[in-house]
Amino acid sequence: MTGKFAAASEAARRVKDGQVIGLGSGTTAELAIEEIGRRMRDESIEIIGIPTSIMSEKTALQAGIEISSLDEHGELDLTIDGADEIDPALNLIKGLGGALLREKIVAEASRVELIIADRTKLVERLGTKAPLPVEITRFAPGHFAARLSKLGCTPILRSDGGKPFVTDNGNYVIDCKFAEIKNPSDLEFKIKSIAGVVETGLFIGIADEAIIGMEDGSTRSMSKSE
Ligand code: A5P
Repeated sequence: MTGKFAAASEAARRVKDGQVIGLGSGTTAELAIEEIGRRMRDESIEIIGIPTSIMSEKTALQAGIEISSLDEHGELDLTIDGADEIDPALNLIKGLGGALLREKIVAEASRVELIIADRTKLVERLGTKAPLPVEITRFAPGHFAARLSKLGCTPILRSDGGKPFVTDNGNYVIDCKFAEIKNPSDLEFKIKSIAGVVETGLFIGIADEAIIGMEDGSTRSMSKSE
């Protein structure tokens, strides 16, 4: 068993009949969506899903999950999502899959944000493994890269088949590689202060719990209070 599957199955077991669930994006979240679908079939439970990307909507529909929107359900019982890095305070980097904007909007509308990952995602300090994705408007990407590099990173405009990668929202992404992120809140403020930045992949104080899956099928829970 993979650590991702162990975490995804444990998270899917937390889902209760009748709940409205935010459906995250990425390979780990997709495993959870499939497991929720399996529970719906095997245990006859009903849930409503709010997807965080076009891809997670597709996976949810294939799994037999009824889809709705935040406009219809403004407060979600639970969101299950993956992460690219998790620090000991449960601050995260997300967005290597490009879904950071909708993931953050859905997370903020959720009573509980549950993160699922294998242990490769655990870091002592954010930025040490993954770049920080920053979603920007398509106007003047070179300008954003120059502004972001002044904050101490190497910025790379994300590409897809030789062209800039375009998010579900029609924007570009710049991946910012820092040696480490010493003060995530300060960096979030500085990046969000640049006109035309749509969102960053820093999730600070948003996650309530992380389930870390091990290869032997066991899981470990980390909560905000740890
Ligand atoms: C999607 O935009 C991301 O935030 C994902 O949640 C994150 O990249 C984790 O993806 P994996 O589960 O595929 O590692």
